[in-house]
Amino acid sequence: MMTLLRIDALTMQFGGLLANDRISFEVREGEIIGIIGPNGAGKTTLFASIAGFLRPTSGRVYLAGADITGVRPDLICRRGLARTFQIVRALPELSVLQNVMIGAFLRTSKVHEARAMAEELLDLTGLSAKAHFAGSSLTIADKKRLELARAMATQPRLLLLDEVMAGLNPRERQQAVELVRAIHRRGVTILLIEHVMDVLMPLSQRIIVLNYGRKIAEDTPEVIVRNPEVIAAYLGDSKYARA
Ligand SMILES: Nc1ncnc2c1ncn2[C@@H]1O[C@H](COP(=O)(O)OP(=O)(O)OP(=O)(O)O)[C@@H](O)[C@H]1O
Ligand SMILES: [Mg+2]
Repeated sequence: MMTLLRIDALTMQFGGLLANDRISFEVREGEIIGIIGPNGAGKTTLFASIAGFLRPTSGRVYLAGADITGVRPDLICRRGLARTFQIVRALPELSVLQNVMIGAFLRTSKVHEARAMAEELLDLTGLSAKAHFAGSSLTIADKKRLELARAMATQPRLLLLDEVMAGLNPRERQQAVELVRAIHRRGVTILLIEHVMDVLMPLSQRIIVLNYGRKIAEDTPEVIVRNPEVIAAYLGDSKYARA
């Protein structure tokens, strides 16, 4: 499979803080890759640099071979890279349907086409019955679904998911896992930040571990959970570390 995303020594410095320190990795088309690490490790910063929301201090980002470092987020999105936000950013005054149509307008200027695309994605994400609710009235779980639907409406090849399962109960989380699988089956490559190893272990082909801005490990889930440095930095005495 071709390399869809290549990160080369990506670095983001905020004043004296190295939030990302020369991070390098590749994502091949069709993969699901997990990213873990303690709070403040630099995971969200990495997504922001990749997707154009932050201009990295140094290093390069390549999407399907093209250098997209420092390119504006909407232009990166047009090239097929979409992200969701850890803090859900649905526009509260708009309906659920309108929120998703905003994503679809990246690909079409015709209202009826955007509406059809959005309705299909509300169906996929289980939000059809709430199409005309205000974005602000949704539960956390539904807001997370809306984030996914809106990102999908931009028709990404690569989707960056920042803690889309955080704050969900076990049943909602299971539904979210099924949704990620359904999106993946549509041919979308996925890079996801999650804290819940129960979710990441079965979903991810590989897991990348960040700690204090540095990549400290990258391997299959089975190998990652036995890595002493990862256990010390992140997994602690969770059941995976003891397995
Ligand atoms: N815009 C910014 N300006 C200054 N410092 C920032 C900025 N954004 C993030 N940071 C700092 O960079 C570090 C990495 O933050 P980041 O949000 O990327 O961590 P994270 O791994 O996503 O954490 P969490 O698991 O809590 O979401 C933190 O110390 C944070 O305070
Ligand atoms: Mg974060």
